[in-house]
Amino acid sequence: MDPLPAHLLSVRELERAHIEHIFAVADRLLAQTNESAKPETILSGRTVALLFFEDSTRTRISFELAAKRLSAQVIAISSSASSVQKGETLLDTVRNILAMHVHAIVLRHSASGAPHFIARHVPVPVINAGDGTNEHPTQALLDAYTLRRRWGTLEGKKILIVGDIRHSRVARSNVHCLQRLGAHVMLAGPPTLLPSFFERWHVRVTYDVREALRWCDAVMTLRMQLERHQTKFVPSLREYASHYAVTADKLLGAQKEVLFMHPGPINRGVEISDELADGSQSLILEQVTHGLAIRMAILSLWCR
Ligand code: CP
Repeated sequence: MDPLPAHLLSVRELERAHIEHIFAVADRLLAQTNESAKPETILSGRTVALLFFEDSTRTRISFELAAKRLSAQVIAISSSASSVQKGETLLDTVRNILAMHVHAIVLRHSASGAPHFIARHVPVPVINAGDGTNEHPTQALLDAYTLRRRWGTLEGKKILIVGDIRHSRVARSNVHCLQRLGAHVMLAGPPTLLPSFFERWHVRVTYDVREALRWCDAVMTLRMQLERHQTKFVPSLREYASHYAVTADKLLGAQKEVLFMHPGPINRGVEISDELADGSQSLILEQVTHGLAIRMAILSLWCR
C-alpha cells in the first residue's frame, strides 16, 4: 500500500488498499466507540481542532467523541462564535489556532475547496468534514463501511443514490468510494437535480425511482439541499416527494430485500417514508454508530 495522503480531502485520493486499511482500523476500534470501554490512548498529548463553518450534528459530534475516545484534547469552534464574524479570514483563523499547538484540523465549510486551500498553507493534517457541494469523504467511508459490515464485501453490489444529486457532496464522495470497492452505482432524481453530465462518472442514471428500486440491493436517500438552491429546481417538495420519496408503495415489485440508508438530516416524508426509515431494513442509525468508528480510525491514522 502507498502511504496515505498527507490530508484527507477527497475519496478520489484514496486507493482501494487505503480504504480497506481504514476499515480494518475501524473494525479494531468499533468496540471502543462505547464510553464504558477502556479508553484508547493513541492520541494522548494531541489536540484536534474542529472548525465547523456550516451546521452539523452527526459529523461534528462524532469527530469530537472520536477524538475524546482516543484521549486527544478537542477544541471546537463555529463561524457564529468566532472572530470570522469580525472579518478575520479563514486562513488567519486557522494559523492563530495552530499557534496554540494544535495537531490536526477538521474543517467543514460552505465553500467547495476550502479544506484544500487550507491544506496548502498549514503543516498539520486537514480532514475534510464536508466542503460545499464538493465532497464529504468521511461520510462516504462510513456509508461503505456500514454496507461492508452487513455484506462482507461490496464487490458486485448494486447501490442506488436518490435525491438532490446536483448539490450533494455525499453523492460525489459515495460514487467514487463505492466504485473503488467494486460496487455498481445508479443515480436517480429529477432531471433538474440530476443533469446528464453525471453520466461521465460511469454510473447509470435514471429518472424512474420505481425501476431503480427493482435494480438495487441498497438505496441511499439524500436530503434536498435547499440552502444551496439559487433557483427553484422542483415545483414543490410535495411534488418532489410524490415522484422521488422512497416509500413501500414504490418498492412494490422489488423481488429482494433492499437496505435503506440516509446520511441525515432526514426530512421525513420528503426523501423517505417513516415506515422505511424506522423499519427493520434501515441502516440509518448503524451509519451513525459506524461513523464514530470510522472517524476514530481516521484520526488515529492522520493525527499521529
Ligand atoms: N451526514 C452529515 O454530514 O450530517 P451532519 O450535517 O449533521 O453532520
